[in-house]
Amino acid sequence: MPNRMKISIIGTGYVGTVTGACFAELGHHVVFVDISPQRVAGILKGDPGFYEPGIGELLKKNSQRISATEDTKSAVLATDCTFIAVNTPSCADGSLDTTYIEKASEQIGSALRETPGWHTVIVKSTVLPGTIEKILVPALERTSGKRAYVDFGLCTNPEFLKEGCAIEDFLHTDRVIFGVHEEKSQRILEDLYASFSCPKIVTSLKTAEMIKYTSNAFLSTKISFSNEIGNICKALEIDSRSVFEGVGLDSRIGPHFFRSGIGFGGSCFPKDINALIALAKEEQVNPVLLNAVVSVNESQPERMIALLKRHMHDLNHKKIGVLGLSFKPDTDDIRESRAIPIIHSLLSEGSCVMAYDPVAIEHFKTIFPSISYAASAEEVLSSDAVLIVTEWDEFKHLDYREKLVIDGRKIKKAQEEAKIYEGVCW
Ligand SMILES: NC(=O)c1ccc[n+]([C@@H]2O[C@H](COP(=O)([O-])OP(=O)(O)OC[C@H]3O[C@@H](n4cnc5c(N)ncnc54)[C@H](O)[C@@H]3O)[C@@H](O)[C@H]2O)c1
Repeated sequence: MPNRMKISIIGTGYVGTVTGACFAELGHHVVFVDISPQRVAGILKGDPGFYEPGIGELLKKNSQRISATEDTKSAVLATDCTFIAVNTPSCADGSLDTTYIEKASEQIGSALRETPGWHTVIVKSTVLPGTIEKILVPALERTSGKRAYVDFGLCTNPEFLKEGCAIEDFLHTDRVIFGVHEEKSQRILEDLYASFSCPKIVTSLKTAEMIKYTSNAFLSTKISFSNEIGNICKALEIDSRSVFEGVGLDSRIGPHFFRSGIGFGGSCFPKDINALIALAKEEQVNPVLLNAVVSVNESQPERMIALLKRHMHDLNHKKIGVLGLSFKPDTDDIRESRAIPIIHSLLSEGSCVMAYDPVAIEHFKTIFPSISYAASAEEVLSSDAVLIVTEWDEFKHLDYREKLVIDGRKIKKAQEEAKIYEGVCW
């Protein structure tokens, strides 16, 4: 067991909570901080306030090594290092909104003013290349009265977890990235990840920041590429998923993430690709490919509606069932879910929407309070047509006989038994 460290985690959303719970599992002591009193209370009860398999159990199992507070200063003063895991959303123009991370840095800086010894600040939040230098260093130095890299450590360790299997992804990641500027912080990161056997890549701060954006830009590109090929396949009556099985066996290409269908959503890909586009423009680089990735992604949900209209010319007053509201299975996160534009389109056509999701209905009601929500997936099947939007496991076992199904995610049973079936890219 490497040194047991005392760690504060600022921001107890998906990333902060998973990071802290996993470090507690590895034997470290963790102090969680959030500006939301509900989140703090939830952490202490082992209920983080969002759905992620195994997270509640992990918090409860390690409760002796976990505490939570709304007070950044006491957390920083009681610990050796501080992870920043606050939200970094998009501004209206797609650029990165650094308000939260700047505020968190100021609060940490005020605490650093009083730390007697070395303390390392580790950026987990996704930030554009140059943000640490341009935003965090001035905020931390101004409020602490100390010098970054000399009086306190500052580094970055971007996160690559996927919601829905976040704990497994964190503990058994393909790689960890250490973006560093001085050795003491590098050693802290090496200690924290000592038990990890994956490759550990040490880079400059800016390179580490860029690795995270490049990963997400590539994954988004792979999906939009799959969708464009999928749209051509659909026109030619070819199953694009079978095409990608053949393509993915090429070791230069790889089999993963050829997810042709209705596109990507979630809290990361859309905002990160838009932030990268905004940065490219600022640097006078024309991001032709990245713009196309976004454009394919935005038009893909509309294909579902177009396919529905092939079989139901007038959607006005028709009861349309929507299976799945979260942006992917095993999460209640609805940020940028493809269900949102799909339901907007259905409503503008005059349809009556009945929707179901195993865990995301309450979140969805905040955007669509007036559509009807079913108590079960079976209830949705009573609709005039059913759209499969998220590939939750339970949708793989429904009785689709006699149904008109438009499938955005390729559910085999629906494809095999629906009376009328259309796949978006197959
Ligand atoms: N969600 C993912 O799958 C994922 C994966 C990799 C990286 N990321 C990145 O990690 C970061 C966090 O993402 P998330 O999805 O966990 O965000 P989130 O919105 O779920 O949670 C952020 C939390 O930070 C809290 N917060 C904001 N300002 C604070 C402050 N000053 N002090 C204390 N708490 C504060 C908020 O109250 C909220 O609870 C983002 O930069 C995101 O891009 C997310």
